[in-house]
Amino acid sequence: MSVIVLGSLNMDIVMKTNQLPVIGETLLGEHVDYFIGGKGANQAVAAARTNTATTLTGQVGTDAFGEKILTALKRENLHLQVTQTAIPTGIAAIFKLPNDNAIVVLPGANADFTIDVKATNAWDDASIFLTQLEISLATVQEGLQLAKAKGLTTIVNPAPFHSAIVEMLPLIDIITPNETEFAQLIGQELTSDKELEAAMLTWSAQHATRLIVTRGSQGTSFIANNAIQTVPALSVAVVDTTGAGDTFNGLFAAELAAGSNFAQAVRFATIGASLSVQKLGAQSGMPSRETILQHM
Ligand code: RIB
Repeated sequence: MSVIVLGSLNMDIVMKTNQLPVIGETLLGEHVDYFIGGKGANQAVAAARTNTATTLTGQVGTDAFGEKILTALKRENLHLQVTQTAIPTGIAAIFKLPNDNAIVVLPGANADFTIDVKATNAWDDASIFLTQLEISLATVQEGLQLAKAKGLTTIVNPAPFHSAIVEMLPLIDIITPNETEFAQLIGQELTSDKELEAAMLTWSAQHATRLIVTRGSQGTSFIANNAIQTVPALSVAVVDTTGAGDTFNGLFAAELAAGSNFAQAVRFATIGASLSVQKLGAQSGMPSRETILQHM
C-alpha cells in the first residue's frame, strides 16, 4: 500500500558558519550550499527511498527554485502532485553551526497551497496519510478530513508547532512531536526524562491519538501496554541533523504502509533517521531500505 504526504517544499540555503551573529553584527561565513528541503518533500523522499509508492502533494513557485526542486524530485521514485504558482517558492535559511543549526523559513508558495479535491482520487489506493505544519492549517485540516473519509491512517508531525493542532486531534491517529513540540503540545516545561515519560503516559491516557516522541540522539519513545518503550538511536558520526525528524516520519509511514506493526515501524524509522545525519543536507543522507535492514 502507498503513502500520501501533504506538505511543504523548500529550497534550503545552508550557510556554514562557526557562530550566529548577534544583533547589529556582520560575520563572514565559510560556505553556502543549496539543497532540496521542506518537511513535506523530505518526508516523501525518505519514504520513497525505501521503494514505497509515495505521492507528494504541495506547491512551489514558477521561479528558478521551484523548477530546480521539481527537477530534483522527478529523479526520486515519487508520484508528484505539485502545483506551481506565481508566489515565490518556500525558502529555508539554515545556519549550520559546528554542532547544531538554526533555521528561518519563508513559507511562500507553501502557505498558499489548497488541495484540489479531484486530485485526491489518487489517494484511494493509499493506506497512510502524513502531514506537518509548514503549510496552512486550513489545508492540513482539509487533508486530514479527506484522508479520514477515505479510511487512511493519519499521521501528523506537529512541526513547526502550532496550538491549533489540538483541535484536530480527533482526525489524527498518530502524532509525532519531538521533545520540544511535545512540551508545547501539553503546555508544560519538561526538565527531565522522568517528567517527559510521565507526561507521555498521562497524555496518552487522555487521548485516543497514539503518541510517538522523537528524542534525537536518545532515540524514539512510544507507549505499549501502558509503559514507555524507547528505541535507542544508532551512534554515528554526526554531520548534519537537518531533516532527521523528517526521515523518521517518512520511514515510519512507509514501514506501516509495508505492513509492519507499530513497534517494528518505530524501530525501522529510528535506525533510518540515525543513519541519515551522516551527510550535509536534509535529503542527502536518507538511507535505502537495504541499508536500514543491514543495521537492524
Ligand atoms: O525539517 C527540516 C526542514 O525544515 C528543512 O529542509 C527546511 O526546509 C525546513 O522546512
